[in-house]
Amino acid sequence: MRVTVTGAFGKAGRVVVEDLVAHGYDVVATDVAGPPGADAGLGADLVIADLTDYGQVVEVLAGSDAVVHLGNIPAPGRATAPETLHQNSAMNGNVFLAAARLGLRKVVWASSETTLGLPFDTPPRYLPVDEDHFPHPTTTYALSKVLGEQTAAHVSAWSGIPFVGLRISNIHRPQDYAAVPGYWGDARSRRWNAWGYVDVRDVAKACRLALEVETTGSQNVIVAAADTIMDRPTAELVAEVFPDVPLTRELGEFETLLAIDAARELLGYEPTHSWRTELPTQEPPTPS
Ligand SMILES: NC(=O)c1ccc[n+]([C@@H]2O[C@H](COP(=O)([O-])OP(=O)(O)OC[C@H]3O[C@@H](n4cnc5c(N)ncnc54)[C@H](O)[C@@H]3O)[C@@H](O)[C@H]2O)c1
Repeated sequence: MRVTVTGAFGKAGRVVVEDLVAHGYDVVATDVAGPPGADAGLGADLVIADLTDYGQVVEVLAGSDAVVHLGNIPAPGRATAPETLHQNSAMNGNVFLAAARLGLRKVVWASSETTLGLPFDTPPRYLPVDEDHFPHPTTTYALSKVLGEQTAAHVSAWSGIPFVGLRISNIHRPQDYAAVPGYWGDARSRRWNAWGYVDVRDVAKACRLALEVETTGSQNVIVAAADTIMDRPTAELVAEVFPDVPLTRELGEFETLLAIDAARELLGYEPTHSWRTELPTQEPPTPS
């Protein structure tokens, strides 16, 4: 299967490319940034293209069976608010419409946890937050993802192409885990996404599963780690920070508040990475 990966030179993209190449896919890697060709060191040649230009999008998708679309301005505050909305909407619309024009077999793309109401300045209506806690965009970045999901639904219906949108949580690479203990002192420091996170390798796996599993229409699922980023029990965090928010079910001791049941069911997604196994174990001090 030949797959175009957009945003291939980015944080998630380079791991997605690596994972797909390792699993035997023929990958067309594309990004607006990075050294072209083999110099990007991705394991697939990098083709430079600007996704806000429809013609360039058609060129980088032509000949592929599917697309994993990750190229976007990846957070609020990186560009002006209107520019984030305009650019992301242009990129998502162009990729979805080019996929339909070319008759691709699958579109997998990065939506975001931010569509669920982050940074929860208004507390969530219930916890764990699931796919139905939507749409609650509070930034033009989140709005661009909400509009992307709406666009995906219609383009999928017009074209018959199955779309899978991944509402990805805060992505952590192995080198990011060293900062995690710094979050534990203040429960409010990460309330903005209800203490969620996801390992970049689990994001790559979710993308690959979304390519491989048979799906219909346009479906959007939360992709997060199975646990929170905090070292104390989840119920304690909720009691301290969201005391008035009802829990819809009993929680495991450190269970995520970004429910991944739908991703498990649709994709067979099971996260295998956690800060708990990534952080070097702290040896107890030796008595002198
Ligand atoms: N990083 C996170 O925590 C997170 C969380 C949820 C969703 N996401 C989404 O996942 C995707 C990947 O995020 P990331 O963290 O790897 O971001 P990133 O910024 O590292 O990668 C995104 C890539 O998109 C490329 N890009 C931007 N504008 C482009 C354009 N006009 N044409 C072509 N390419 C363009 C950038 O050059 C960059 O390499 C994004 O869609 C982002 O919104 C990220």
